[in-house]
Amino acid sequence: MIELHPITPENHAAARKLAVAPEQRNFVATIDKSLADAYVYKDALFRIAFHNDQPVGYVLVFPFDKGEKRVVNIVRLMIDAQFQGQGLGRALLNKTLAWIDSLTPTPDEVRISTLPANVRALTLYRSAGFEGSALEDGEVALYRVAGR
Ligand SMILES: CC(C)(COP(=O)(O)OP(=O)(O)OC[C@H]1O[C@@H](n2cnc3c(N)ncnc32)[C@H](O)[C@@H]1OP(=O)(O)O)[C@@H](O)C(=O)NCCC(=O)NCCS
Repeated sequence: MIELHPITPENHAAARKLAVAPEQRNFVATIDKSLADAYVYKDALFRIAFHNDQPVGYVLVFPFDKGEKRVVNIVRLMIDAQFQGQGLGRALLNKTLAWIDSLTPTPDEVRISTLPANVRALTLYRSAGFEGSALEDGEVALYRVAGR
């Protein structure tokens, strides 16, 4: 089971060791860049993913208004290289979607995007109900109705 927690003085040293495999580095920004982004963009929300009390990944989301719609963009989502391939990425995505549904104001739509070469992530996102294939800023952008 995945639990999401803010970064704290107690967990940051372990959490900041989280990293993807070298060949995945162009798919997701580092935890330090993600923390800097969450500091700069005040509406962004950053969480560490814990499994069995151990940090295994992180997620950065950004809620924004698009016309009348409240959209939450999952800007970053990763599982540390040593914990991949065990179902934790899917568990983290599901936990993140439940968390997003609990935010105020209530979101209408969830967005996620990744590079076209990231087949693993695209397969995961589509199997979780995300749809879309248009490129936005060079990434495949996928959308899902919130609250399902
Ligand atoms: C993408 C990522 C989060 C998936 O996490 P994971 O723990 O490895 O994935 P899971 O074990 O939960 O598998 C989830 C699904 O991914 C897909 N998948 C897993 N390995 C795959 C592979 N080698 N090739 C294609 N699809 C694959 C499958 O659909 C799988 O679901 P299933 O096993 O029920 O069929 C993780 O690999 C990662 O952090 N990658 C680097 C960072 C990144 O690319 N982040 C996303 C872009 S922001």
